[in-house]
Amino acid sequence: MRTALAYYSVTGHSKKIGGAVANALQIPIYNLKTDTIPEPLDCLFVVGGIYGGKSDAHMLNQLSHLDGAAVRQAILISSSASGFGRQDQARALLQSRGIQVLSDEYVCMGNFLIVRLGHPNQAEVDGAVRFARQALARLNA
Ligand SMILES: Cc1cc2nc3c(=O)[nH]c(=O)nc-3n(C[C@H](O)[C@H](O)[C@H](O)COP(=O)(O)O)c2cc1C
Repeated sequence: MRTALAYYSVTGHSKKIGGAVANALQIPIYNLKTDTIPEPLDCLFVVGGIYGGKSDAHMLNQLSHLDGAAVRQAILISSSASGFGRQDQARALLQSRGIQVLSDEYVCMGNFLIVRLGHPNQAEVDGAVRFARQALARLNA
């Protein structure tokens, strides 16, 4: 199964989480700010934070170039200061491109200024790795 991970990070959390997942799963990692995602892919993890209640507009623009004929399945991993912000716009956009998006999404805390300092912590990063392993195993089953 051809699998990769793409992240978009403003303050470094998605890079940290994405790096840990890519390293554990031994899959290539791409920065959506600078890299082109090589297609075709069976599965693409998309890791991103929430800003003003939304995904970053530049990230969404990058994702809008993906095609359901080339990327079969996406899995979302998200972080936000609230700890419950989801990448709803990214999900809708990927689905509109014909890409299946796993209904389960890993959501963890990030931080904003002094709110939730120290997040995402090691346990939350480990949780993302566990989620990614299980999600991929389910796709492979
Ligand atoms: C400019 C800015 C706006 C943010 N807005 C929100 C928000 O609306 N809701 C929330 O829960 N977290 C918000 N956060 C917190 C981020 O979602 C959180 O820290 C996330 O982990 C950032 O990911 P990143 O480090 O990969 O950019 C915001 C952070 C920044 C820097």
